[in-house]
Amino acid sequence: MNDTAIDFLKSRVSIRDVDPDAVVTAAEIEQILTIAGSAPSGNNSQPWKVAVVQNKDMQAEIYTRAYQQLQVKNAAGVFLVFGDRSAYEIDHLVAEKLKNGTLAPAGEGMFRKKIDFFYASSPAENSVEAIMLDCGLFAMNLLYAIKAFGYDAVPMRGADFDAIKKYLELSESWQPVLMIPFGKARTAGNEKIRKKPAEFSLLFK
Ligand SMILES: Cc1cc2nc3c(=O)[nH]c(=O)nc-3n(C[C@H](O)[C@H](O)[C@H](O)COP(=O)(O)O)c2cc1C
Repeated sequence: MNDTAIDFLKSRVSIRDVDPDAVVTAAEIEQILTIAGSAPSGNNSQPWKVAVVQNKDMQAEIYTRAYQQLQVKNAAGVFLVFGDRSAYEIDHLVAEKLKNGTLAPAGEGMFRKKIDFFYASSPAENSVEAIMLDCGLFAMNLLYAIKAFGYDAVPMRGADFDAIKKYLELSESWQPVLMIPFGKARTAGNEKIRKKPAEFSLLFK
């Protein structure tokens, strides 16, 4: 057992009171997003898109579209995580795989057939459901990456994402997943109140 890793995993908590003067550098943002992007996704489609806002005037505008939740205004920045369903399109998957060398040109026909069959038999796999799953895993990784750099965050859905997309002039097709304000904690988070494994798991041996 790796006690350090366990302590780290246990220590994540939602932080809503952050220092408005804290600064997270562009280099840190780049590294945090790189780690977040190591998340798994169906067919390695990586359908996430992230708007990073580090501008207090813009954060104040987003705050008015997020039920005046103060963390949005005070944060060192806000990650807005979206999903782009075009990442699941077969042409896109093929182009990416040919580009990164995980598919040889000779295997393209077979790969197309495989994905065609997959989507026909499991329609959820290129739907909004899949976006929420793939980008949800990305967002969880992002929360831990933020923590690994000594910052804290809170995942949020309490926001008018359509209004925020309009304000930031983002593509209408992007599916909103989570808003994640991040920064330096001023006040500790809430106590962990959780069900015990016996309350939510079934063990088959
Ligand atoms: C999908 C989702 C939406 C959430 N939306 C909000 C939100 O709008 N505002 C907020 O303050 N916290 C929000 N939270 C944070 C939860 O309240 C918090 O994760 C939960 O109470 C457990 O506490 P912990 O994160 O400190 O362990 C959200 C969490 C998730 C996963």
